[in-house]
Amino acid sequence: MNILILGGGGREHALGWKLKQSKNVNNIYFSPGNGGTSSVGVNIEIDISDEKSLLSTIKQQNIDFVVIGPDDYLANGLTNLLEEKGIKVFGPTKEASEIEWSKSFAKQFMIEEGIPTAEFKDFSDFKEAQQYLEQSRFPIVIKADGLALGKGVVIAKNINEAQKALQEMMLEKVHGIAGNKVVIEEYLEGKEISAHAFCDGENIIMFPPAQDHKPIYDNDKGPNTGGMGTVASLPWVTKSLMKEIENTIVLPTIKGLKKRGRIFKGILFPGIMVTKSGPRVIEFNARFGDPETQSYMRILKTDLLDILLACSDGGLSKTEIEWEDEFACCIVLASAGYPKGSQKGVLINGMDNNVPKNIEIFHAGTKMDGGKLLTNGSRVLNVTAVGSDLKKSINEAYKAISSINFDGMQYRKDIGNKSL
Ligand SMILES: Nc1ncnc2c1ncn2[C@@H]1O[C@H](COP(=O)(O)OP(=O)(O)O)[C@@H](O)[C@H]1O
Ligand SMILES: [Mg+2]
Repeated sequence: MNILILGGGGREHALGWKLKQSKNVNNIYFSPGNGGTSSVGVNIEIDISDEKSLLSTIKQQNIDFVVIGPDDYLANGLTNLLEEKGIKVFGPTKEASEIEWSKSFAKQFMIEEGIPTAEFKDFSDFKEAQQYLEQSRFPIVIKADGLALGKGVVIAKNINEAQKALQEMMLEKVHGIAGNKVVIEEYLEGKEISAHAFCDGENIIMFPPAQDHKPIYDNDKGPNTGGMGTVASLPWVTKSLMKEIENTIVLPTIKGLKKRGRIFKGILFPGIMVTKSGPRVIEFNARFGDPETQSYMRILKTDLLDILLACSDGGLSKTEIEWEDEFACCIVLASAGYPKGSQKGVLINGMDNNVPKNIEIFHAGTKMDGGKLLTNGSRVLNVTAVGSDLKKSINEAYKAISSINFDGMQYRKDIGNKSL
């Protein structure tokens, strides 16, 4: 099969790297891809908003299967379009992925289905939201309703911080139309994990648990980013906790969506707070996590193409999925200034050193320029390692980083510590 992977982050590089090992994969195309994906397949430019050029490229390159990475493509109905044209695609429809692209839809859905989550209220009116905050307890969580590149959530410690966040989202529109509506919710205390499940509309298969690190600085200080590093699996998460997440969260979600005519095929990725009273949903994502995928692909044993096709075609009940008996760690190297803005076009050094066998480096914001590897903003590289225990995988990943550098490079020094 010829595969087209849409997206240009570390997630897409990792998916391509894994698909390349599948027995039935012929050519892999990435659009737009990045400076690293061109060593796995071919980067091609497609204007996704131009339906004609997208479809003609798919035809010209004999693409058999389109794998969608980013959330906004799903929200814009790209799966619907491709399915209508008879093109095989991995990723849920616009209607099914509303569970991610509208936080108020997701919250209402969880209330109706009895899925454990934080208490909340949603507001389209600024004044009403403001009044609600005046009689709230703190900390409290304020979320832009729509997609905001992982930056639309503020945990406000007091009324002033809360009013400021509300003003920025609803009046100044710092996240554009994503802030037309806000969700204000109860602050949950506990340990945060990422769950992922392969879904074929009916059946699901859970991944092992992973942990992301959202804030830019060590000890979870500073503003949230797209994610600064991950570990998988997590030694402290028991089998029975994963069963509870499967039975009280993932399965009721897939069933509830089906009941509403929103058949969910793809990856359901709930962010979960493990609280004293059990696991509760922070949010749903309708796609592979970035950077969770970079760790996951290092420990997935089964042929990825077989699994993705089973999700799209409805054959998951007949599919066995195996994971290596190992742990993986992914550390993100980000540009100067990230996440507020970010520098681009900086030379990356140390990538042609001999990379140990245990290390895979997945690219995100990189580009090749006349044989030189340059940064292209935001998150730049994902250094991944595996080990027979979590500590080993973390140590190996940090060791590999010591030979890589670019001007202004930032990374967290404490990835995985919370799970040791
Ligand atoms: N109710 C909550 N209680 C505590 N922390 C939260 C809560 N909601 C969100 N967070 C924190 O904020 C982060 C981002 O929130 P999330 O709902 O996942 O939005 P997004 O990923 O769209 O930015 C979460 O990963 C979590 O660390
Ligand atoms: Mg999130």
